[in-house]
Amino acid sequence: MKDLTPNKADLDPIEIASRDEISALQLERLKWSLKHAYDNVAFYRKSFDAAGVHPDDLKTLSDLAKFPFTVKTDLRDNYPFGLFAVPRDKVARIHASSGTTGKPTVVGYTANDIDVWATCVARSMRASGTRPGDIVHVAYGYGLFTGGLGAHYGAEKLGCTVVPVSGGMTTRQVTLIEDFRASTIMVTPSYMLSILDEYRAQGLDPRESPLQVGIFGAEPWTNAMRTEIEAAFDMHAVDIYGLSEVMGPGVANECVETKDGLHIWEDHFYPEIIDPATGEPVADGEKGELVFTSLSKEAFPIIRYRTRDLTRLLAGTARSMRRMEKITGRSDDMMILRGVNVFPTQIEEQILKVDVLAPHFQVELSRHGRMDEMTVNVEALPDHADNAERAGAAAELARRIKQVIGITVRINVTEPGGVARSQGKAQRIVDNRPKA
Ligand code: DLL
Repeated sequence: MKDLTPNKADLDPIEIASRDEISALQLERLKWSLKHAYDNVAFYRKSFDAAGVHPDDLKTLSDLAKFPFTVKTDLRDNYPFGLFAVPRDKVARIHASSGTTGKPTVVGYTANDIDVWATCVARSMRASGTRPGDIVHVAYGYGLFTGGLGAHYGAEKLGCTVVPVSGGMTTRQVTLIEDFRASTIMVTPSYMLSILDEYRAQGLDPRESPLQVGIFGAEPWTNAMRTEIEAAFDMHAVDIYGLSEVMGPGVANECVETKDGLHIWEDHFYPEIIDPATGEPVADGEKGELVFTSLSKEAFPIIRYRTRDLTRLLAGTARSMRRMEKITGRSDDMMILRGVNVFPTQIEEQILKVDVLAPHFQVELSRHGRMDEMTVNVEALPDHADNAERAGAAAELARRIKQVIGITVRINVTEPGGVARSQGKAQRIVDNRPKA
């Protein structure tokens, strides 16, 4: 793999500014953001008043802890445009998340918000090793999902040639990467695995592909998966994080030279980690739920939004801005099996240690009597059809999961293609337990 470390001179100066400079900018912007939300959104005015706080009460960054949280149901309750802080005709774009139940959550952007977003994604791409002039293949879905258009505007802003493919039609994805010679791909890690399968199905050597950088996000993935993809394609696999409520992709991104967690673009997003049970902020380095406050958003300011994502904050390394550790999972994705907390990423890590198994998997929860049971459905690699070999792999995986995670699970090794594929975010958990 090539060394793609960007030149210091090409970074935005704030990326490597002193902590004092960053904090001063954050305080100034935070004051503006709280006031902007309070003055223009009835929901925030009501919730601040109810908590007995006013934007003027923020004198230091830590005063933010006095302000109330915002949660996903607040967005639903104010559907569709109730949380917008600018007149509707100043809203240049709407995105929405589909949501599994009920109404989608809707977010909006002014023209300036879209420009800031593009700047954050361009910064993320540069950190990933992409350069102006590179050909960028965008296989995140285009539409209400923020992945496709977010990546697209960022790539344009950086000065790249964008190929807006969106998700799906995997055969064509490979053809276009090969024919157009894309050096960067932006896609969910699970869909990248389908693209990898397609390379092999077409008899192409993925290591000969033109790809040098993959910018993967929108779902949790492990360092074990990084190693797998980097080895398969001989490319850098870099993590990008974001969520529509806070903006979209490009809230935080890894640096290609360190790959040691995601630097949060703290000039636009103020992070906190809280204890999910008590709501109290915890110190940097301690694990908990990630909470974000927007510092510059006009159309849709968001104050202390509880992401449900679990991570911890770490000091800056390649940039002065703090890092968040790779996300292990969402609190909603946490399964509790006989008292043990389990995340799909922990299962992924173990699968990648067993030679015969492919990294396509789904975890199925069922109930027998009063006992919850977990079955891991996982595919065998194409050249491992032998039943004894598959049974051996199943036993090895069950043993590893027992040893490392501490739970007894059933393993079902399927034919290649036996696990449902997604062309965007993978659905890792299928819950077949009777609803209470
Ligand atoms: O997934 C935005 C995005 C698009 C990020 C493309 C990166 C790349 P939502 O659909 O609103 O937005 O989903 C946000 O996805 O709260 C996390 O749970 C999860 N997520 C996003 N990026 C990562 C990541 C987009 N790098 C939710 N690692 C978030 C782990 C991630 N989880």
